[in-house]
Formats: sequence, structure tokens, C-alpha cells
Amino acid sequence: MSETVAVDISRLSGRRKLRSGPKGRAVDPRALADVRALLGDAPRRRDLLIEHLHRIQDAHGHLSAAHLAALAQEMRLAQTEVYEVATFYHHFDVVKEGEAPPPPITVRVCETLSCQMAGADALRASLTTTLDGRDVRVIGAPCIGRCEHAPAAVVGRHTIDDATPQKVEDAVRARRTEAVALAYTDLAAYRAAGGYRTLAACTSGERTVDHAFARGLQLLAVALGGGALAVLFVRRVSARWKNEPPPAS
Ligand code: FES
Repeated sequence: MSETVAVDISRLSGRRKLRSGPKGRAVDPRALADVRALLGDAPRRRDLLIEHLHRIQDAHGHLSAAHLAALAQEMRLAQTEVYEVATFYHHFDVVKEGEAPPPPITVRVCETLSCQMAGADALRASLTTTLDGRDVRVIGAPCIGRCEHAPAAVVGRHTIDDATPQKVEDAVRARRTEAVALAYTDLAAYRAAGGYRTLAACTSGERTVDHAFARGLQLLAVALGGGALAVLFVRRVSARWKNEPPPAS
């Protein structure tokens, strides 16, 4: 006589339940409200992700896990995508759950080659001794684009050229943390001084493409030293451009 066995399949069906929300952590409504306030009317396009991360970092001094999840939802991006971008860039401080946020002031000492050769290690060691603590942290950073003034450091967003322990400590004590715009030539002044003259002549038809190309080759020959080999190279390039047989060596 066959025996009947009862099997409980309720737990199996539970595993097949469809996900009711997006993948990843649940979004905290307060974090979402923060993000919406910071982004305002700005478009939520994916190419603006870094800009939006900057807004959060600037406002809070770091990027919390809750804010990253909220930003992902607001921009309709995967949480992993937002996290990967945020952790790729050195100037973003991602703070996971349970981690302490960074101190209010961060001093970055460039540790790339030019600054290394100009004493960045000693500078960082000195600053770590005098400044590192509850209100300030001293960390290394990749090149900050001030190599001609090595060693370079940044207090917050304030760049310090030819940095010494004294200069950096003074900036920290005075709370000079904002970037100072450098003197630069704007587009109007550059054009007024003759900038882009050749481009304008080409686009207006005053110069032909051949004319511009020949001038470019002349300049290339000069840049290559103007010797016989440079001239020969330029003549060969020119012949190829014009589909002519190459000149005799
Ligand atoms: S190597 Fe230090 S600023 Fe470039």
C-alpha cells in the first residue's frame, strides 16, 4: 500500500518572489530630500554625475552611503555606477555606514614625481606631526597640476605653491580653504591679441585648406629643427597629402 507524504513548498515559492524595488540599499527619504534640495532645477542627465557629486561633497564635506543611494535614485542610475564614479576620484570622500566622516579640513600633499623630488615626503611628515588630528587630516594626493611650483599642497581647495610647513600651517590656522582664481587671459583678450587669426581666415574662406596645410608643414619643419632631414620629412608628408610621387631623397 502506497504511503502519502506531505511536502511544504511555501518556502520554495518565497524564493521566487519578484523584487519589488530597485537593486541595492533602500533610499533614506531625508537623504533624498537633501539631494533634491542641492540639485535644485539642475538637469539629472548622467553626464552631470560628477558635478552633482561635487555639490554633495561641497555641502557635507563627504559623500555618505545614504546620499549616494539617493543620488542614484534621483538620476535613475544604478547605485553601483554612482559608487564606482565616486570612489574613482581622489577628491571625493565616500563614507560607508558606521565610518566616521573626515575632519573639516583636509590637507593634500602632492606625492607625484616633481613634488617628490622637491621634498614632498619631508613636507608631509612634518605636517602630519604638527597638524593631523581631530580638525585636520593630512593625506597624500596625485599631481594637482602645479608641478612648476613643487612641492605643492592644497588646504581644502586652496592651493599652496612652493609649499613649506610654515605656509601650510599658516593657511590652516587662518582657515584659508577656498580656491583663489589665478590671473588668466580670457577668450576675448586672446582674440583681440591675434589669437585664432589663422582659424578665422580658414573658416571665412580667406585661406584654403592647402594654404593652411602648407603653413602647418612650414612650422613643423621649423619645430623639427629646420635641418635637411626635417625638410625632407615635411616634403614627403606634403607629397602624400597631395597624392604626388614622393620627392627624391
Ligand atoms: S607633481 Fe606635484 S603638482 Fe604635479
